Amino acid sequence: MAATNGTAPTETLFSPSLISPSVSSALPDGYSIRPLQRGDFDAGFLDVLRVLTQVGDVSKEDFEKRWDEMKAGAGGYHVLVILDGEEKIVGTGALIVERKFIHHLGLVGHIEDIAVAKDQQGKKLGLRIIQALDYVAENTGCYKTILDCSEANEGFYVKCGFKRAGLEMAHYY
Ligand code: ACO
Repeated sequence: MAATNGTAPTETLFSPSLISPSVSSALPDGYSIRPLQRGDFDAGFLDVLRVLTQVGDVSKEDFEKRWDEMKAGAGGYHVLVILDGEEKIVGTGALIVERKFIHHLGLVGHIEDIAVAKDQQGKKLGLRIIQALDYVAENTGCYKTILDCSEANEGFYVKCGFKRAGLEMAHYY
């Protein structure tokens, strides 16, 4: 079915060439990894994010509008998904590439919204998501990648090779 703005539901948010071949081949049998597609509302994308936090009442139209905004965002948004053998989304993660003036117009990767479906946790899918996002960061020219997480998740990120650096602070609006 064609999308309302003429974009195919299979159109990807970023180039599939940025998906690490070694991460793809390390997934469990039948699983696959690819960039988020415009049609992924129907594949359970928001349900996976609900293991992370409150998502709210987001319609398919809302989802597609946000996807279009990300797609228009100068190549900065890289949301990827892992699918099980039944093409259901079971994991997701995002890398947002920030363009700076400092560090010789440096690029910094921000890892956001990592989530693995509850019944799929412990199969190294979280690790594969991080490795795939690292590959995107390296291949888009980022000089570092940073993220914020809770104390409860520090061990996971240490296993993924991150080390503590700095302190998160926030203003909520
Ligand atoms: N604390 C310590 N170690 C952990 C944790 C943890 N919370 N979670 C996983 N690990 C370890 C695993 O035991 C494994 O270790 P091993 O290599 O010695 O066996 C290693 O980390 C890799 O684990 P995975 O199987 O890849 O982890 P999983 O697929 O279960 O995903 C995740 C981990 C993403 C944290 C998952 O539990 C989840 O979705 N949680 C709910 C949402 C959430 O909190 N997301 C992170 C938010 S922070 C952010 O988005 C920047």
